[in-house]
Amino acid sequence: MLWLKAFHVIAVVTWFAGLFYLPRLYVYHADTVDSISIERFKIMERRLFGIMTIGAAASVVFGVAMLLTAPLYLTMGWLRIKLSLVLLLIAYHGYCYKLVRDFAEDRNTRSAKWYRLFNEVPSLLLIAIVLLAVVKPF
Ligand code: HEM
Repeated sequence: MLWLKAFHVIAVVTWFAGLFYLPRLYVYHADTVDSISIERFKIMERRLFGIMTIGAAASVVFGVAMLLTAPLYLTMGWLRIKLSLVLLLIAYHGYCYKLVRDFAEDRNTRSAKWYRLFNEVPSLLLIAIVLLAVVKPF
């Protein structure tokens, strides 16, 4: 169980490295006009999305493995709320994919300011999920 938890946390850190940095790339990309930089951003975004998807998949696999090892977790209030927030995080991840596609096809319509705000969402989810997982308030 402790091994699963350790790899779960490692995978979550990998996932969040991407969730924090990919929207930052959108901020810079949205303000860029020269074609060499634009093409470079497209490559960086595609690769970072791939790495963070591996982190996301591994987080879910190790998390579910812990639930299978100890199904009693599912009766706990904190875990149920945590899983609801994880679903929001997965939806955010999916939306990041749509944005990578939009940028790749030069179809972005949003401003850098919008991406700055969008960039705050994973921080809020991270704080809520980690507090639930560590403090287990109910
Ligand atoms: C399907 C997705 C997930 C499942 C099924 C899952 C499930 C679990 C389970 C069963 C534990 C063990 C709790 C314990 O023994 O204390 C755990 C620990 C933990 N999870 Fe998740 N988790 C998922 C996603 C996430 C995400 C996205 C984050 C971060 C944003 C996260 C952060 C943590 C942390 C920090 C711990 C360690 C808590 C501690 O040791 O006190 N998990 N998770």
